[in-house]
Amino acid sequence: MKMIAPSILSANFSNLSKDIEMLDRAGADMLHIDVMDGLFVPNITIGPLVIKALRPLTSLIFDVHLMIEKPERYIDLFVEAGADILTVHYEASLHLHRTIHLIKSKGIKVGVSLNPSTPVFLLKEILKDVDLVLLMSVNPGFGGQSYIENTNNKIIELNELRRNLDANFLIEVDGGIKASNIKDVSELGVDVFVAGSEVFNSKNPSEKIIQLRKLANE
Ligand code: DX5
Ligand code: ZN
Repeated sequence: MKMIAPSILSANFSNLSKDIEMLDRAGADMLHIDVMDGLFVPNITIGPLVIKALRPLTSLIFDVHLMIEKPERYIDLFVEAGADILTVHYEASLHLHRTIHLIKSKGIKVGVSLNPSTPVFLLKEILKDVDLVLLMSVNPGFGGQSYIENTNNKIIELNELRRNLDANFLIEVDGGIKASNIKDVSELGVDVFVAGSEVFNSKNPSEKIIQLRKLANE
């Protein structure tokens, strides 16, 4: 079963609890939380304090996407805040192996993410160690951008590596996912779809989640 992870980046930040209750009721598979530091990406969002405040509101899996430089500095804070999956960027952490094992040692799941211009083969030596690979299908920083078509080649290559290495990480795609393209992308072998603007700009976000999941599983 393919999963939908709505991104709260496009939610109403003056009333996050209302949107989170809606996602809970709609049966979202995960809650995708975008953390940006204004350095790794040209935008600033939220940090561990807000995540900690949201934690008691739902039992949804917190899929925390760290778009921050040197994420190794803040692992403890995000674990304490209630992250279930912590994803760091390949481009942001020099000693990636150490960072990944630091996250694993906290007893939560670990993901690694690639920007659109970073080739998939660079992850080869770490793929057996991660629970999830997050392919960015837009340049990170903002919601509402268009899906970069070359991501399709990266999904195919990553799937091949997964098979060849006999690894079992999930493949997640983030950026520009819509009802109009989710089926095609899903067929390439994606397991988890992040969707921000498509869900929250829709007239009926709960129905949109159901529609996306249905299309992804067709
Ligand atoms: C972008 C974020 C995404 C973003 C996706 O940097 O990582 O999670 O919310 O937004 P949409 O679905 O609108 O492209
Ligand atoms: Zn994200």
